[in-house]
Amino acid sequence: MKSVLEFKARKGKGRISMSTAYAHWEARLLADSPVDCVLVGDSVATVVDGEATTFAATPEIMARHTAAVARGLAGSKFLITDFPFLAARKGIAAAVECASLLMRAGAHAVKIEGIDGHEDVIRHLVQSGVPVIGHLGLTPQSVHALGGYKVQGKTDATAADLLRQAQAVEAAGASGLVLECVPTDVAREITEALTIPVIGIGAGPHTDGQVLVFHDMLGLNTGFNAKFVRHFADGNKVMGHGLASYAKAVADGSFPSKKESY
Ligand code: KIV
Ligand code: NA
Repeated sequence: MKSVLEFKARKGKGRISMSTAYAHWEARLLADSPVDCVLVGDSVATVVDGEATTFAATPEIMARHTAAVARGLAGSKFLITDFPFLAARKGIAAAVECASLLMRAGAHAVKIEGIDGHEDVIRHLVQSGVPVIGHLGLTPQSVHALGGYKVQGKTDATAADLLRQAQAVEAAGASGLVLECVPTDVAREITEALTIPVIGIGAGPHTDGQVLVFHDMLGLNTGFNAKFVRHFADGNKVMGHGLASYAKAVADGSFPSKKESY
Protein backbone atom coordinates (compact mmCIF):
# COMPACT_ATOMS: atom_id res chain seq x y z
CA MET A 1 0.00 0.00 0.00
CA LYS A 2 1.20 3.47 -0.87
CA SER A 3 -1.17 5.84 0.90
CA VAL A 4 -3.21 6.44 4.01
CA LEU A 5 -6.36 5.92 1.93
CA GLU A 6 -5.27 2.40 0.98
CA PHE A 7 -4.33 1.82 4.62
CA LYS A 8 -7.79 2.86 5.88
CA ALA A 9 -9.55 0.88 3.16
CA ARG A 10 -7.97 -2.35 4.44
CA LYS A 11 -10.09 -2.36 7.62
CA GLY A 12 -11.80 -5.75 7.68
CA LYS A 13 -10.20 -6.80 4.36
CA GLY A 14 -7.05 -8.69 5.30
CA ARG A 15 -4.43 -8.05 7.95
CA ILE A 16 -1.87 -5.30 7.45
CA SER A 17 1.85 -5.98 8.00
CA MET A 18 4.07 -3.13 9.16
CA SER A 19 7.81 -3.04 9.91
CA THR A 20 10.00 -0.35 11.35
CA ALA A 21 12.91 1.01 9.33
CA TYR A 22 15.56 3.53 10.28
CA ALA A 23 18.05 3.42 7.41
CA HIS A 24 18.17 3.52 3.65
CA TRP A 25 19.26 -0.12 3.19
CA GLU A 26 16.47 -1.43 5.43
CA ALA A 27 14.01 0.60 3.39
CA ARG A 28 15.36 -0.89 0.15
CA LEU A 29 14.86 -4.41 1.56
CA LEU A 30 11.32 -3.47 2.60
CA ALA A 31 10.59 -1.85 -0.77
CA ASP A 32 11.30 -5.21 -2.43
CA SER A 33 9.24 -7.15 0.14
CA PRO A 34 5.50 -7.80 0.44
CA VAL A 35 5.39 -5.99 3.82
CA ASP A 36 2.54 -3.48 3.49
CA CYS A 37 3.83 -0.36 5.21
CA VAL A 38 6.73 1.13 7.14
CA LEU A 39 7.20 3.01 10.41
CA VAL A 40 10.20 5.17 11.25
CA GLY A 41 9.83 4.49 14.97
CA ASP A 42 11.34 6.50 17.77
CA SER A 43 12.64 3.05 18.74
CA VAL A 44 15.57 4.30 16.63
CA ALA A 45 16.84 5.60 19.99
CA THR A 46 16.89 2.15 21.59
CA VAL A 47 17.53 -0.11 18.58
CA VAL A 48 20.07 1.99 16.67
CA ASP A 49 21.60 4.20 19.35
CA GLY A 50 21.52 1.78 22.28
CA GLU A 51 19.57 4.09 24.59
CA ALA A 52 17.51 2.64 27.48
CA THR A 53 14.40 4.62 26.45
CA THR A 54 13.04 6.40 23.38
CA PHE A 55 13.45 9.85 24.99
CA ALA A 56 16.59 10.73 23.04
CA ALA A 57 14.75 10.87 19.72
CA THR A 58 14.10 14.47 18.60
CA PRO A 59 12.11 15.89 15.66
CA GLU A 60 15.42 16.49 13.84
CA ILE A 61 16.62 12.91 14.41
CA MET A 62 13.25 11.53 13.28
CA ALA A 63 13.35 13.74 10.17
CA ARG A 64 16.84 12.59 9.24
CA HIS A 65 15.91 8.89 9.48
CA THR A 66 12.63 9.56 7.68
CA ALA A 67 14.50 11.11 4.77
CA ALA A 68 16.87 8.12 4.54
CA VAL A 69 13.97 5.65 4.63
CA ALA A 70 11.86 7.66 2.18
CA ARG A 71 14.75 7.64 -0.34
CA GLY A 72 14.99 3.86 0.03
CA LEU A 73 11.26 3.26 -0.34
CA ALA A 74 10.99 5.70 -3.26
CA GLY A 75 7.23 5.94 -2.86
CA SER A 76 6.65 2.18 -2.83
CA LYS A 77 5.09 1.97 0.67
CA PHE A 78 2.89 3.96 3.01
CA LEU A 79 5.38 5.62 5.41
CA ILE A 80 4.60 6.71 8.98
CA THR A 81 6.99 8.54 11.32
CA ASP A 82 6.76 8.77 15.10
CA PHE A 83 6.26 12.06 16.87
CA PRO A 84 9.11 11.84 19.41
CA PHE A 85 9.02 12.37 23.19
CA LEU A 86 6.78 15.32 24.23
CA ALA A 87 6.49 16.69 20.67
CA ALA A 88 2.68 16.60 20.93
CA ARG A 89 2.70 18.25 24.38
CA LYS A 90 4.14 21.70 23.60
CA GLY A 91 1.04 23.13 22.01
CA ILE A 92 -0.28 23.28 18.50
CA ALA A 93 2.46 25.50 17.04
CA ALA A 94 5.25 23.16 18.17
CA ALA A 95 3.32 20.15 16.88
CA VAL A 96 2.88 21.82 13.50
CA GLU A 97 6.64 22.51 13.40
CA CYS A 98 7.39 18.86 14.17
CA ALA A 99 4.88 17.63 11.59
CA SER A 100 6.32 19.93 8.94
CA LEU A 101 9.83 18.56 9.56
CA LEU A 102 8.62 14.94 9.33
CA MET A 103 6.32 15.42 6.32
CA ARG A 104 8.95 17.42 4.40
CA ALA A 105 11.36 14.56 5.07
CA GLY A 106 8.95 12.18 3.33
CA ALA A 107 6.49 10.82 5.91
CA HIS A 108 2.92 10.26 4.72
CA ALA A 109 1.51 10.28 8.28
CA VAL A 110 2.70 10.81 11.85
CA LYS A 111 2.14 8.54 14.84
CA ILE A 112 1.39 10.13 18.21
CA GLU A 113 1.36 8.34 21.58
CA GLY A 114 -1.56 8.98 23.95
CA ILE A 115 -4.64 11.15 23.57
CA ASP A 116 -5.72 12.76 26.86
CA GLY A 117 -4.70 16.42 26.85
CA HIS A 118 -3.62 16.60 23.21
CA GLU A 119 -6.85 15.77 21.35
CA ASP A 120 -6.70 19.35 20.01
CA VAL A 121 -3.21 18.79 18.59
CA ILE A 122 -4.32 15.64 16.76
CA ARG A 123 -7.46 17.36 15.47
CA HIS A 124 -5.46 20.36 14.26
CA LEU A 125 -2.90 18.23 12.40
CA VAL A 126 -5.66 16.19 10.75
CA GLN A 127 -7.46 19.39 9.71
CA SER A 128 -4.12 20.64 8.34
CA GLY A 129 -3.85 17.66 6.01
CA VAL A 130 -1.44 15.63 8.12
CA PRO A 131 -2.76 12.09 8.63
CA VAL A 132 -2.32 10.91 12.23
CA ILE A 133 -2.02 7.38 13.63
CA GLY A 134 -2.65 6.96 17.36
CA HIS A 135 -0.67 4.74 19.75
CA LEU A 136 -2.17 3.44 23.01
CA GLY A 137 -1.59 0.72 25.58
CA LEU A 138 2.08 0.46 26.44
CA THR A 139 3.28 3.86 25.28
CA PRO A 140 7.08 3.76 25.71
CA GLN A 141 7.36 7.56 25.97
CA SER A 142 5.46 7.21 29.29
CA VAL A 143 7.57 4.33 30.59
CA HIS A 144 8.33 5.97 33.94
CA ALA A 145 4.71 6.88 34.60
CA LEU A 146 3.75 3.29 33.71
CA GLY A 147 6.41 1.85 36.04
CA GLY A 148 8.16 -0.09 33.30
CA TYR A 149 7.41 -1.89 30.04
CA LYS A 150 4.27 -3.77 31.16
CA VAL A 151 1.07 -5.13 29.65
CA GLN A 152 -1.70 -2.50 29.87
CA GLY A 153 -5.48 -2.88 30.27
CA LYS A 154 -5.42 -6.04 32.38
CA THR A 155 -8.28 -5.03 34.69
CA ASP A 156 -11.88 -4.27 33.66
CA ALA A 157 -11.41 -0.61 34.62
CA THR A 158 -8.15 -0.09 32.70
CA ALA A 159 -9.52 -2.02 29.69
CA ALA A 160 -12.60 0.22 29.64
CA ASP A 161 -10.37 3.28 29.84
CA LEU A 162 -8.29 2.01 26.91
CA LEU A 163 -11.47 1.63 24.84
CA ARG A 164 -12.48 5.17 25.80
CA GLN A 165 -9.06 6.49 24.69
CA ALA A 166 -9.21 4.51 21.45
CA GLN A 167 -12.59 6.01 20.62
CA ALA A 168 -11.21 9.47 21.41
CA VAL A 169 -8.31 8.85 18.98
CA GLU A 170 -10.80 7.95 16.26
CA ALA A 171 -13.04 10.92 17.15
CA ALA A 172 -10.05 13.29 16.84
CA GLY A 173 -9.72 12.19 13.22
CA ALA A 174 -6.91 9.64 13.35
CA SER A 175 -6.50 7.24 10.41
CA GLY A 176 -5.37 4.26 12.48
CA LEU A 177 -4.26 3.12 15.90
CA VAL A 178 -1.28 1.14 17.16
CA LEU A 179 -2.14 -0.91 20.24
CA GLU A 180 0.90 -2.12 22.17
CA CYS A 181 1.00 -4.84 24.84
CA VAL A 182 -2.65 -5.34 25.73
CA PRO A 183 -4.54 -8.59 26.40
CA THR A 184 -5.89 -10.35 23.31
CA ASP A 185 -9.56 -9.88 24.27
CA VAL A 186 -9.11 -6.17 24.96
CA ALA A 187 -7.42 -5.69 21.59
CA ARG A 188 -10.23 -7.59 19.88
CA GLU A 189 -12.90 -5.46 21.55
CA ILE A 190 -11.15 -2.22 20.56
CA THR A 191 -10.58 -3.47 17.00
CA GLU A 192 -14.28 -4.27 16.67
CA ALA A 193 -15.33 -0.94 18.19
CA LEU A 194 -13.27 1.24 15.80
CA THR A 195 -13.80 1.93 12.09
CA ILE A 196 -10.07 2.69 11.56
CA PRO A 197 -7.40 -0.05 11.32
CA VAL A 198 -5.94 -1.20 14.63
CA ILE A 199 -2.35 -2.43 14.35
CA GLY A 200 -1.14 -4.59 17.21
CA ILE A 201 2.21 -5.33 18.79
CA GLY A 202 1.85 -7.71 21.70
CA ALA A 203 -1.91 -7.42 21.17
CA GLY A 204 -2.89 -10.86 19.89
CA PRO A 205 -4.18 -12.06 16.51
CA HIS A 206 -7.54 -10.26 16.28
CA THR A 207 -6.30 -6.80 15.32
CA ASP A 208 -6.41 -5.44 11.75
CA GLY A 209 -2.65 -5.78 11.45
CA GLN A 210 0.71 -6.22 13.12
CA VAL A 211 3.86 -4.17 13.58
CA LEU A 212 7.29 -5.41 14.66
CA VAL A 213 10.69 -3.79 14.91
CA PHE A 214 12.80 -4.78 11.87
CA HIS A 215 15.77 -5.87 14.00
CA ASP A 216 13.56 -7.94 16.31
CA MET A 217 11.71 -9.87 13.59
CA LEU A 218 14.91 -10.63 11.69
CA GLY A 219 16.80 -11.87 14.73
CA LEU A 220 19.34 -9.04 14.59
CA ASN A 221 18.57 -7.79 18.09
CA THR A 222 19.06 -10.94 20.14
CA GLY A 223 19.33 -8.96 23.38
CA PHE A 224 15.59 -8.16 23.28
CA ASN A 225 13.30 -11.11 23.91
CA ALA A 226 9.79 -9.89 24.65
CA LYS A 227 7.09 -12.56 24.50
CA PHE A 228 5.52 -10.85 21.46
CA VAL A 229 8.66 -11.12 19.30
CA ARG A 230 9.16 -13.91 16.79
CA HIS A 231 12.43 -14.25 14.86
CA PHE A 232 11.50 -14.77 11.20
CA ALA A 233 15.17 -14.98 10.28
CA ASP A 234 18.39 -15.75 12.10
CA GLY A 235 20.00 -12.47 11.10
CA ASN A 236 22.47 -12.30 13.95
CA LYS A 237 23.84 -15.78 13.14
CA VAL A 238 24.01 -15.17 9.38
CA MET A 239 25.84 -11.88 9.86
CA GLY A 240 28.09 -13.33 12.57
CA HIS A 241 29.14 -16.12 10.19
CA GLY A 242 29.80 -13.55 7.48
CA LEU A 243 31.99 -11.46 9.76
CA ALA A 244 33.93 -14.53 10.94
CA SER A 245 34.49 -15.66 7.33
CA TYR A 246 35.70 -12.19 6.36
CA ALA A 247 38.15 -11.94 9.26
CA LYS A 248 39.46 -15.44 8.53
CA ALA A 249 39.90 -14.75 4.81
CA VAL A 250 41.81 -11.56 5.56
CA ALA A 251 43.96 -13.31 8.15
CA ASP A 252 44.80 -16.31 5.94
CA GLY A 253 45.43 -14.16 2.86
CA SER A 254 42.65 -15.71 0.73
CA PHE A 255 40.94 -12.31 0.44
CA PRO A 256 41.36 -10.42 -1.77
CA SER A 257 42.09 -12.93 -4.51
CA LYS A 258 43.64 -12.06 -7.86
CA LYS A 259 40.13 -11.71 -9.31
CA GLU A 260 39.24 -9.20 -6.60
CA SER A 261 42.35 -7.09 -7.18
CA TYR A 262 43.38 -4.49 -9.81
O1 KIV B 1 8.95 3.04 17.79
C1 KIV B 1 8.46 1.95 17.43
O2 KIV B 1 9.15 1.05 16.93
C2 KIV B 1 7.01 1.77 17.60
C3 KIV B 1 6.38 0.48 17.24
C4 KIV B 1 7.04 -0.73 17.73
C5 KIV B 1 4.93 0.46 17.45
O3 KIV B 1 6.36 2.69 18.01
NA1 NA C 1 7.48 4.46 18.80
